[in-house]
Amino acid sequence: MDLSEKKIAEYENWFSDYLARFKQNHDPYFQKNIKMKEMHSRRVRKEIKELAQKLDLPFQKILCAELIGLFHDIGRFTQFKNYGTFKDSRSEDHAKLGVKIIQQEKLFMEFQPELQEMIIKSIRYHNRAELPPIQDKNIRFFSRLLRDADKLDIFKVVTDYYAQSEKNDAIELELPDTAGISAAVFTDIMQERIVKSENLSNFNDFKVLQIAWIFDINFLPTFQRIAERKFLEKIKAVLPNSEKVNKIFQKCNFFLKEKIVK
Ligand SMILES: [Fe+2]
Repeated sequence: MDLSEKKIAEYENWFSDYLARFKQNHDPYFQKNIKMKEMHSRRVRKEIKELAQKLDLPFQKILCAELIGLFHDIGRFTQFKNYGTFKDSRSEDHAKLGVKIIQQEKLFMEFQPELQEMIIKSIRYHNRAELPPIQDKNIRFFSRLLRDADKLDIFKVVTDYYAQSEKNDAIELELPDTAGISAAVFTDIMQERIVKSENLSNFNDFKVLQIAWIFDINFLPTFQRIAERKFLEKIKAVLPNSEKVNKIFQKCNFFLKEKIVK
């Protein structure tokens, strides 16, 4: 069957009903984190739709992108409920958990197998440090598009968070707020590599990892949005004013500018 706006609305209703199951627990910290991922999912849907439109995708593919955006983090709610953390290394891989939930709930079964596979694989790969080689052109395209849309919204979440004063360990991934930047993280960036999460040893490293996402962006409209919204500048502003930070920022910002003028 083909996707339609009506179909998407049905899945959006399913999504809201599913979240209602997590609203029984009234603990404010729990609710805050469930809400945070709910809003993130809804915004990623909007971001991916806008990217898909900018890329002139046909209508069917725009709808498909929206579905992937809305459901990409469906594993997050169960992850937080079961483990009280969003840290995959301390709980389980939230993308894999998301696929498990999609299967348990029998979602997307009405679609053609190719479409089902595309949705499931894009979700499965969205949180990998790097995408594995993907033969299928469509799956590769949507996996890359989802990763861009997801990063655009995480840039928003973290920069909004840095701009306020209330602390949330679930965002900071429980990293200590100590001085400086780790040598391994600095080296990754100077070689235009994304930062590996196992190299993170403090909160500054985590912020730097986000700046280095620029090396893992796939599409021109995503680079344009990152520049318009000044995400790199906003993260730099909450890092120590050091020579290392200046070098990191210059490297990443130059990379971004090059992508946009090309
Ligand atoms: Fe996400």
